[in-house]
Amino acid sequence: MATTTRTWRQVSARVRTQREYGAGFRWLELEMPAGFAAPVAGQFVQLLLDPPSPVLLPRPMSVASVSKKGTKLVVGFLYAPVGTGTQAIARLEPGSTIGVTGPLGQGYPLDEPGTPVLVAGGRGVAPLLMAADVLAKSRRRCEFVFGARTASLLVGLAEARERLAKRGSKLHLATDDGTRGFKGNVVQMLDRLAPKLAGPLVIYSCGPHGMLAAVARWAMANGARAHLAMESVMACGTGVCRGCPLPRSAEARDRVLATGADAAPLQGNPEWAMCCTDGPVFEARELDWDRVE
Ligand SMILES: Cc1cc2nc3c(=O)[nH]c(=O)nc-3n(C[C@H](O)[C@H](O)[C@H](O)COP(=O)(O)OP(=O)(O)OC[C@H]3O[C@@H](n4cnc5c(N)ncnc54)[C@H](O)[C@@H]3O)c2cc1C
Ligand code: FES
Repeated sequence: MATTTRTWRQVSARVRTQREYGAGFRWLELEMPAGFAAPVAGQFVQLLLDPPSPVLLPRPMSVASVSKKGTKLVVGFLYAPVGTGTQAIARLEPGSTIGVTGPLGQGYPLDEPGTPVLVAGGRGVAPLLMAADVLAKSRRRCEFVFGARTASLLVGLAEARERLAKRGSKLHLATDDGTRGFKGNVVQMLDRLAPKLAGPLVIYSCGPHGMLAAVARWAMANGARAHLAMESVMACGTGVCRGCPLPRSAEARDRVLATGADAAPLQGNPEWAMCCTDGPVFEARELDWDRVE
């Protein structure tokens, strides 16, 4: 079981920029106050609107970029305004403030040996571009598979192409309807790509749960390791409310039982992992994909 290092803080951040990103998504950048730890790829934060707010609870958001602007730490998010909370976030003007708790959860273990294959679906592209930047800093090129139902949903494609080219990484596009790149899904793309790559493969993936389940099954069937960024409806984000369970695999359950389920009280129990503290990034063999919703 992963251990939670509690480096998170609750702070008030300043909106630096907010803009349309295409395909119905928005890009938000927050300036963090001094003392906020730089998140790693795969981690998330909880965004809590200042009062008066239309929503009571914070909204979880994956970190899509981390940069330094002068002395300030700037954290970026790619998000879809789907409901009351995210639509209120979309109305925030530069200069306004928002509460941030973070960085939260376990990020991608980017130091695992093997050929890194990054598999993105939709807005999952953003945290994986951040992962590609980190890999490039340690002189590791990656294969970047980016899939969507149709070309217009390959969100931020121009930026992905430019950033990956600069880092010597290779972009492989797949669309279900064949409007851009390979005609098929990302798993079919993996089938074509894998024989050309030096093993072992280590996959990092972010996207809808259906895609992640298919990638996890592919990895387990093909002897690859895969680290998948999961989501769940969350309240606290810190392991307290027990509201974000994901079903553990039998293998993971037995390991938790053997190591003592009470060892880390803010994490899950033998049957259920907590998405916010055990995850959100899980290795494929940690979860029971037949019961993941
Ligand atoms: C770890 C994590 C990272 C996330 N990262 C991102 C991100 O980078 N970009 C992004 O756009 N969204 C992300 N989400 C999803 C985002 O948190 C939800 O879209 C948001 O909470 C919805 O809040 P709302 O008030 O706008 O919608 P609500 O009015 O609460 O609900 C609107 C719709 O969104 C669905 N929804 C609510 N909460 C979630 C949730 N946690 N996950 C998925 N669907 C939800 C509801 O079922 C409903 O259909 C992430 C979620 C998690 C758990
Ligand atoms: S959101 Fe509260 S335990 Fe995960």
